[in-house]
Amino acid sequence: MKKKPIICIDGPAGAGKSTIARMVARELGLVYVDSGALYRGLAWKALENHVNLHDAWALAEMAKNTKMNFKTMEGGGNHIFVDGTDVTSQIRSERVSFHTNEIAKVKGVRKVLNEMQKALGKKGGVVMEGRDIGTRIFPKAKYKFFLDASPLERARRRFLELKAKGRRVNLEKIAHALAQRDYKDKTRGISPLRQAPDAVVIDSTRLSLAQVAKRILKFVAA
Ligand code: DC
Repeated sequence: MKKKPIICIDGPAGAGKSTIARMVARELGLVYVDSGALYRGLAWKALENHVNLHDAWALAEMAKNTKMNFKTMEGGGNHIFVDGTDVTSQIRSERVSFHTNEIAKVKGVRKVLNEMQKALGKKGGVVMEGRDIGTRIFPKAKYKFFLDASPLERARRRFLELKAKGRRVNLEKIAHALAQRDYKDKTRGISPLRQAPDAVVIDSTRLSLAQVAKRILKFVAA
């Protein structure tokens, strides 16, 4: 039987990766994996347990001793469990978003999470999104996409998303936080956000999410 494909979707925060990866996975009957949720899950645990975010050794030890898994809930939502606790909504808080960068730059943490991600895609049949999926996790994957959009458009999307959830938000503040995250993601010494040389780049600034998903599906079908 033909092995199911691995589809890598990388790009900066707010480029629409999650929604698009979910759409593509649903359409092709593949499993959707949000790798950022794993980094966020560890950041949540570190904050919860008052682990020193500047202690690389303690963070790596914590990562080694953490069980994380995804579960598709009734109704289709994809939830993440850290040591058995459903932290799906907690990992989206501003505090966790802000500190996840500190976790993501620790070599020992990335090593543990890289293995976890490779194991999730071992049998193929996944759409995985993140920052280094095409460059580091599955460098040999056949399908790699790099999603981008202008900083202003990405901030606008995040603003509308949070507003729709009933949160009181400020566009300028969001744009500032996004620029900070971009900078940290791109300048990190280990596995920085970088486009794989063989990735298909899609600029979604003027495209709808459905249009982007359609483009990806067309490539995969070709
Ligand atoms: O995709 P996201 O915004 O949920 O990611 C949260 C953080 O995790 C972000 O600051 C970058 C980091 N991350 C990473 O370093 N490598 C990945 N493969 C995915 C996310």
